[in-house]
Amino acid sequence: MWAKVLAVAKRRGFIWPAFDIYGGLSGFYDYGPLGAELKRNIMEIWRRYYVLIEGFAEIDSPNLSPEAVFRASGHLDKFEDYMTVCRSCGAAFRADSLVETENADALSADELWDIMRRENIRCPECGGEPSKPEPFNLMFRTTIGPKGKRERTGYLRPETAQAMFMDFQYLYRYFREKLPFGAVQTGKGFRNEISPRQGLLRLREFNMAEAEIFFDPEKKEWGGFERIAGERLRLIPNNGNELEMSAAEAVERGIIKNQALAYFVALTKRFLIAVGIDEKRLRFREHLQDEMAHYADDCWDAEVLLSYGWVELVGIADRTNYDLSRHMEFSGENLRAMRKYPEPKEVEVEEIIPDYRKMGPLFKGNAKKVAEALKAMNPADLHDDVTLEIDGNEYVVPESAYRVEKVRKKVSGEEFIPHVIEPSYGIDRILYAVMEHNYYEIEEDGETYRILRLPASVAPVKAGVFPLMSKDRLNEKAREIYENLRKAGINAFYDDSGSIGRRYARMDEIGTPFCITVDYQSLEDDTVTIRFRDTKEQIRVRGDEVTGKIRDLIERGERATP
Ligand code: ATP
Ligand code: GLY
Repeated sequence: MWAKVLAVAKRRGFIWPAFDIYGGLSGFYDYGPLGAELKRNIMEIWRRYYVLIEGFAEIDSPNLSPEAVFRASGHLDKFEDYMTVCRSCGAAFRADSLVETENADALSADELWDIMRRENIRCPECGGEPSKPEPFNLMFRTTIGPKGKRERTGYLRPETAQAMFMDFQYLYRYFREKLPFGAVQTGKGFRNEISPRQGLLRLREFNMAEAEIFFDPEKKEWGGFERIAGERLRLIPNNGNELEMSAAEAVERGIIKNQALAYFVALTKRFLIAVGIDEKRLRFREHLQDEMAHYADDCWDAEVLLSYGWVELVGIADRTNYDLSRHMEFSGENLRAMRKYPEPKEVEVEEIIPDYRKMGPLFKGNAKKVAEALKAMNPADLHDDVTLEIDGNEYVVPESAYRVEKVRKKVSGEEFIPHVIEPSYGIDRILYAVMEHNYYEIEEDGETYRILRLPASVAPVKAGVFPLMSKDRLNEKAREIYENLRKAGINAFYDDSGSIGRRYARMDEIGTPFCITVDYQSLEDDTVTIRFRDTKEQIRVRGDEVTGKIRDLIERGERATP
């Protein structure tokens, strides 16, 4: 099936292999005109869900980051897959893709190697002997700045998320220091995948849409949970037993650990269905403990059934306070929020008091930074000399340069590090899945008709406009309707070549939900036909009402019925 979908996608201008005239490069694709439009529509719907309805704040940050960011985030040490290389032909593979065990990506290098030897796994390309799996970091490394003293190591971001953590203080202030709040970012992610061989499913440069929702972990309720409480979810918890239940029941029974996580699982389901994913081929699977990314404490993947098997489209992770804690530790900045008491309280607290007379001569211009980083630590963790890492440099604060004191204070609240739920959407995988789930072939009169039953809201072209004949003023009338649609922001396509049947078929194949035909009756009573892609029904409407009618049909979010 995927081969057929990709063939249509290529022929009709959705997806083209990138760098094609130079032989292409695996893991890179171009979106053609229809693909770019389809992607934009999916992104727009995502923005409607997350920015307009949820009220989250959208930011836009650089693709390239200095090394310090990924040292703090843990990606430098842990963002890796196990690679095996064929000793005969030199082809490289992800070791977990060669073994047939379920959840092979949760296995260690040694476990993978044991299976590979026991099952005598050979190179899929030449039958040669593969090497012992070794970790391979997936980030693209580069340099920033001219060669010389100012040159710095940089990495293309493997996720858009980090900027939202680094901007936490700005965002917290933007939201008037109230939790929960969410920040989102859409944009490119880059991963030097070892052997990308599955079309849009595994790219080296891909489109992400991510939300980071910051909340107080002591609050058990999620505002607005009732809006999704009844949503039915098909769940596979990490004990492997598939269940179906409402979001509310999943939280009550402890299957999804809190309302916040369940809310974004259910929201993800609604979004995926809105853009055209088939509900019957959608499930949510919880990660096994060893499968989880280094920053996550729990993670549910939205998976869809494709001709490739079950494929992850979205990961909804509980990142706890991992990222904010790490960035606090590595930058020395305070990334905490305040939990206000109903009444101010007098409390005894332990406070770290740096001795600036000693810190000054020791750390010179960095003394303030070091002192702040020291103060941000937990007093209980301070013993003897303290080693701090800030912006990639190490500072040793001797025991004589600080003291811990008990002080009584009137406080209006307490500081804590917010926790984060992260729904992370892979837009290219979603786009491909939407195409495959809506692709139909119909045999008629010995010919194969292909139909892409896309929801009207995501379809790249919303309306085909045809004059029955390219004469007798039919074409002038059709042109006017076409131009009015485009002026109103509705992407229409004008076609006056070939039989009407052929023109419908061309539009069906690219998922156009509505076709408008100007015929001889139009000259008499100023009406035209609107034909609906999925039912082939036709209605007549007045020429000057076409734009409004098409807009209503798109907004109804339906596939293509009158
Ligand atoms: P996988 O296990 O398939 O490699 P992942 O668990 O590493 O995926 P995440 O790190 O959770 O993926 O990334 C979030 C989302 O980004 C995924 O759900 C997926 O839709 C998308 N994504 C990740 N890697 C790629 C890729 N190489 N090409 C296209 N999309 C990707
Ligand atoms: N931000 C989620 C991920 O990259 O896995």
